[in-house]
Amino acid sequence: MRVLISEAEIQQRVAVLGRQISEHYRGRPLTILGVLTGSVVLLADLIRAADLPLKVALIQASSYGGMRTSPGELSINRALVPDLRGRDVLVLDDIFDTGRTMVGLFETLEEFQPSSVRCAVLLWKKQRTCVEMEPDYFGFQIPDEFVVGYGMDFNDEFRHLPFIGVPESAELKNAESGTSDNTEAIGSSE
Ligand code: IMP
Ligand code: MG
Repeated sequence: MRVLISEAEIQQRVAVLGRQISEHYRGRPLTILGVLTGSVVLLADLIRAADLPLKVALIQASSYGGMRTSPGELSINRALVPDLRGRDVLVLDDIFDTGRTMVGLFETLEEFQPSSVRCAVLLWKKQRTCVEMEPDYFGFQIPDEFVVGYGMDFNDEFRHLPFIGVPESAELKNAESGTSDNTEAIGSSE
């Protein structure tokens, strides 16, 4: 596993994002809407870096089915979404890649009649983005490489890594066959 962004770099950047978001939404009825499952680690860190009253909610979106590393059909599950009427919603996802997931989420959220909807992501693969929308907040722009860790997965593995890494093809093979051993990947973060 090659470390692309270290744990310390992520923590510093998330602290800055937390301050920017707090300044923008101070005095507003903010709901941070985390996109399952990739945003869970960022969500936990960002809400603690945001120094203002806020609510936390979740929505599920998936465009990568299982082991594939290219996007598939987008499916959005709104079963967990609470009443958002009159609230300022900040959609939080791990990565803005083509941008289709975020566009689909914004369309879905219209029916909840929030006062505003913006989005924040940790990573932006700007070269791959093929929609008009751009993230309102992003942590880092990254090149067109498949990354895992800090919430992001391959076949539901590697989400727990505290850094963002580019897996070796052997690691992807192991994760595919369900025999992955992440001990080395974790070691390489030190
Ligand atoms: P988009 O719809 O193409 O913007 O894709 C966004 C979603 O694809 C993200 O929420 C991730 O779940 C997933 N994704 C995109 N690139 C990567 C990656 O490099 N690693 C892991 N997941 C990714
Ligand atoms: Mg995702």
